[in-house]
Amino acid sequence: MVQEFNKVGVVGLGTMGAGIAEVFARAGFNVVGVEIDQAALDRGRGHLDKSLTRAVDKGKLTADERAAIDARLTLSTSREELADADFVVEAVPERMDIKRDVFGDLDRICAPGTILATNTSSLSVTEIAALTDRPERVVGLHFFNPAPVMKLAEVITTVSTGDETVDIVTEVAKRVGKTPITVTDRAGFVANALLVPYINDAVRLYERGIATREEIDESVKKAAGLPMGPLTLADLVGLDVCLAVMDVLWAEFHDPRYSAAPLLRRMVAAGRLGRKTGQGFYGGKDAPEPQRTGRLARMVREEETLDLGAMLLAPQIDDAMRMIGDGYASAKDVDTAMRFGCGYPKGPTELLEEFGAESVITTLVSMGEYSLTTIAVPAPLLMDRLPEADESEGHGGCACHA
Ligand SMILES: NC(=O)c1ccc[n+]([C@@H]2O[C@H](COP(=O)([O-])OP(=O)(O)OC[C@H]3O[C@@H](n4cnc5c(N)ncnc54)[C@H](O)[C@@H]3O)[C@@H](O)[C@H]2O)c1
Repeated sequence: MVQEFNKVGVVGLGTMGAGIAEVFARAGFNVVGVEIDQAALDRGRGHLDKSLTRAVDKGKLTADERAAIDARLTLSTSREELADADFVVEAVPERMDIKRDVFGDLDRICAPGTILATNTSSLSVTEIAALTDRPERVVGLHFFNPAPVMKLAEVITTVSTGDETVDIVTEVAKRVGKTPITVTDRAGFVANALLVPYINDAVRLYERGIATREEIDESVKKAAGLPMGPLTLADLVGLDVCLAVMDVLWAEFHDPRYSAAPLLRRMVAAGRLGRKTGQGFYGGKDAPEPQRTGRLARMVREEETLDLGAMLLAPQIDDAMRMIGDGYASAKDVDTAMRFGCGYPKGPTELLEEFGAESVITTLVSMGEYSLTTIAVPAPLLMDRLPEADESEGHGGCACHA
């Protein structure tokens, strides 16, 4: 099926689209990248040139391979160029009005059999599919930044997606060197639904004066070997993107766990979006330092039993166990998502094995006592991981058998 693909279209050649176009061209597909105007097209070409030149400089591509990739890449400002594309990935800005415009056009321009994929992080794939007359041939194909490097691709299906479409897109994702996981359309999918609330938790700890930004970041590097801490990551991802994900999670689930930290919202309102604006939690002398004189902060700091790394990772493990318990994703998919999409050395269920259920639950309960988490009761699947209670202590028994 996939080998018959002659032409892959990528709409939008910004941060993600340029990377996606590169991924497909490197895998041997002929790619047409479409931008909104000449200036944006030149910027897109610049992203591609920079990335491919770096790959050659690092010895990851030979000059001949680079030339072959360039020959497979065509850039245009005309969407009509996609009339004979077999597969199109959309990577335009995260706004439904722009997606509507693009998908309306793609549906009109492309042949009825062409599969259309969106790289959206937080919009409803179902709503996007419903904008077309071919919802059975529309999916989410969610790449991670930087697309040429990160191995995860989330394939998002809707209630309308056809089985054949899922098979083809999963095969395409593998062909371009990604590790796909397939899940249904749900706010945050797998990786963002686990990653962004954890970032939000870090912002809460920071704003409540529990620790400095450096202490927060160092704690998870030490506890789980993560490549960077959550506040550094927030700056990298963009605080606006984090807020958008929190807001869609909240809109879908109305769970207090998904209410955005007030400081996150304020920093976005202030235009401190992280690396892209030069200032976020780091990067400027005006970046707010935590207020460290609060009574609660002092109390918690004096608590020997709470450690920061555990306080950040335990709720994420709980979220993962809920996601598995809900039947949304398998343990393997959850670990794959965090390893290949977020650079975790171990996925949440592997971390649970390492820390032990008792320790994770103790952390959650202690955090609850200080109102540091909204998780009132650990996930049922997490509770199930507790070692069997000793029968002689009478736990789990029933009075009528006495
Ligand atoms: N940045 C990330 O880390 C990341 C990660 C995963 C998914 N995403 C998703 O990928 C999509 C793109 O995000 P991005 O960060 O690459 O955005 P971006 O702003 O860097 O790039 C968007 C590009 O789309 C172009 N564009 C705008 N309107 C267009 C139109 N009508 N036709 C063609 N091109 C048009 C813009 O000129 C721009 O180059 C979003 O849906 C986002 O949620 C982003």
